[in-house]
Amino acid sequence: MRPHHGMLAALLVVSTIVTVGSSAAQRPAMDRRIDSLLARMTLEEKLGQLNLPSVDNGPSPAQLELVRKGLVGGFLNLTGAAATRETQRVAVTESRLHIPLLLGHDVIHGYRTIFPIPLAEAASWDPEAVEAAAHVAAREAAAAGVNWTFAPMVDIARDPRWGRIAEGSGEDPYLGSQMAVARVRGFQGADLRAPEAVMATAKHFAAYGGAEGGRDYNTVDVSERTLREIYLPPFRAAVDAGAGSIMTSFNEIAGIPSHANRWLVTTVLRDEWKFRGFVVSDWTGIGELEAHGVAGSRADAGKLGLEAGVDMDMVSGIYLEDVPVLVRAGRIPVATVDAAVRRILAAKSRLGLFDDPYHGSSVERERSVLLAPEHRQLARRVAQEAIVLLKNDGQRLPLGPTVRTLAVIGPLADDKVAALGSWPGRGDPQDAVTVLEGIKARIAPDTKLLYAKGCGITDTSTGGIAEAVALARLANVALLVLGEAGDMSGEAASRSTLGLPGVQQQLLEAVQATGTPVVLVLMNGRPLAVQWAADHVAAIVEAWFLGVETGHALADVLFGDVSPSGKLPVTFPRVVGQVPIYYNHKNTGRPPSDQKYTSKYIDLPSSPLFPFGLGLSYTTFTYRDVRLSAPSITPGDTLKVAVTVSNSGEREGTEVVQLYVRDEVASVTRPVRALAAFRRVSLRPGEASTVDFLLTPKQLGFYNRDMNFVVEPGKFRVFVGGSSVDGLEGEFEVRAGGRAGRR
Ligand code: NOJ
Repeated sequence: MRPHHGMLAALLVVSTIVTVGSSAAQRPAMDRRIDSLLARMTLEEKLGQLNLPSVDNGPSPAQLELVRKGLVGGFLNLTGAAATRETQRVAVTESRLHIPLLLGHDVIHGYRTIFPIPLAEAASWDPEAVEAAAHVAAREAAAAGVNWTFAPMVDIARDPRWGRIAEGSGEDPYLGSQMAVARVRGFQGADLRAPEAVMATAKHFAAYGGAEGGRDYNTVDVSERTLREIYLPPFRAAVDAGAGSIMTSFNEIAGIPSHANRWLVTTVLRDEWKFRGFVVSDWTGIGELEAHGVAGSRADAGKLGLEAGVDMDMVSGIYLEDVPVLVRAGRIPVATVDAAVRRILAAKSRLGLFDDPYHGSSVERERSVLLAPEHRQLARRVAQEAIVLLKNDGQRLPLGPTVRTLAVIGPLADDKVAALGSWPGRGDPQDAVTVLEGIKARIAPDTKLLYAKGCGITDTSTGGIAEAVALARLANVALLVLGEAGDMSGEAASRSTLGLPGVQQQLLEAVQATGTPVVLVLMNGRPLAVQWAADHVAAIVEAWFLGVETGHALADVLFGDVSPSGKLPVTFPRVVGQVPIYYNHKNTGRPPSDQKYTSKYIDLPSSPLFPFGLGLSYTTFTYRDVRLSAPSITPGDTLKVAVTVSNSGEREGTEVVQLYVRDEVASVTRPVRALAAFRRVSLRPGEASTVDFLLTPKQLGFYNRDMNFVVEPGKFRVFVGGSSVDGLEGEFEVRAGGRAGRR
């Protein structure tokens, strides 16, 4: 059995102590270096440290000149050991103060070895595997001279129309926090100076996923309670795990754009949470304060951003170009600029760049590290774990030896570009193994494999459907690989509908009508509303975008070499009109029932298509004996919840055991259930295991009417099971008295 999350938490505490301890020892030297630099810097050089331009091809001669003049704090999108080393060389040998550069890049789910998209990785519910994947991404990126990644994206997303749901960990703050911590640890390791580490950025601060209508960059209006209970916890977890930087979000919250939100960036992040890293804007986010209508000029925008606490200006160039005159006129205190510069220099120091500006990168290292066989191996394992079996009537899967002819059909079946998903770093589609290729490599030599594309992903032409139907008729099983193109999710890729794009639905219905048994493999960066498929197709596999090892991992699962173990990190709606739909909703005063005047749609069941936490296996798991360590506790106490899980089927399998909690009566309304803990447990047939969870005040508390975090006395219910809609139940009470419950 894997170490459980209590152990992970313990490891985390230890590593935090180590980091804090060692930086405390270095602090005087670091501070002296920063003091001495600051004392020697001109105002322009100071603001230069806060300037983060993007490099397209190059840097250009003009950008190198800026580096020589000390007017650049770092670049984004400069990659490759040769180019990064040369640029760092210019910075440290040809600029007056020899200050090295931060080199940032969007290393989201891999640098060259592309792993499953983050939403898919979250479906593994395996923080250790996700940490290992982030570590590989960091190892490759760092070898190529990148010392800073714009990841993890820890935005909670409750609206699948929002394309960036693909980049996060789904809808749940607890799962999202576990994934945030895993990624920060994976990217940064125990020591940021190590040549395998890059600095992490938790983004986008905050509530970017709450965009109205799921339309990217749109307005957010969210209560402070929902902000603190749903959107902020993964950021807090990333900060506590030592994330070096935070990126502000494009959206406003209740009228205040994040890039100008001093309450968010300074009061909450720095004063309350004690964040000691630096804050970077999103791409032209400072400049966009003009379009938001809170700044009348570039200079105004710069003042708002700096005074809110945004230290580094990505791409706008405003801090460098428009802020000096404000400082000289006394409209922005020099101390505000100095504080931001200190934070940038401290980050460079934490990365060890003053000692080794190249951070261990080299052309040779890059060559040997990128796409290393062990990296691909890990990518395959993570991809296997990310696959979610949504439906498997009649045990259609795994595919057995009776399948003499297999027809593989669909526009995603042999698409190398889509396999990598959105934000594929410096991934090369040629490295990807498609579903068709993976099946070819795995299938028995005497099994006949047929292939037809059937249609394009978004095409409106139905011309190819007849051929696909003809092939399906010849086969024992038709494996349909349908879904979205890789770039239909991610940034600026919101959708107003959630069905299969183009004529894929027609293709699916035509193949299903042949009577040949169908297995549907979905590739997508968001939940899809595939009600028809759920009603008609016997087996459905959610494969997201699984990265370079897509085809191998899918073949491993489809042929039963590995039993699927992924669980949905997000709810799948029946139709787009059901959005937003999420498992941890409130009960309302009129929960849905067959009575008319209750909270529901008259034309739709209240349940989702597939609930949060769902994922089937080729075996079955049975839960028994929920045991609570006490019938009642006081608010500061921890309660132990134990359950026995056994493998009651005939194959080896891994179950994600989930613990949910409900506060039955409180001074403010509470979710019907909230995920409080989970654990992956691998069991052989007939094997049983007892899983222990600890419920701490952090899981039991909430923000009361005064916005204080409290555990209130009263009745609580727990649910332990394999998804958010089933499970055994238990009850306990929190009695007044004892220590107060704190975070
Ligand atoms: C804009 C995106 O919102 C952000 O996530 C990304 O890091 C930057 N562009 C840089 O590419």
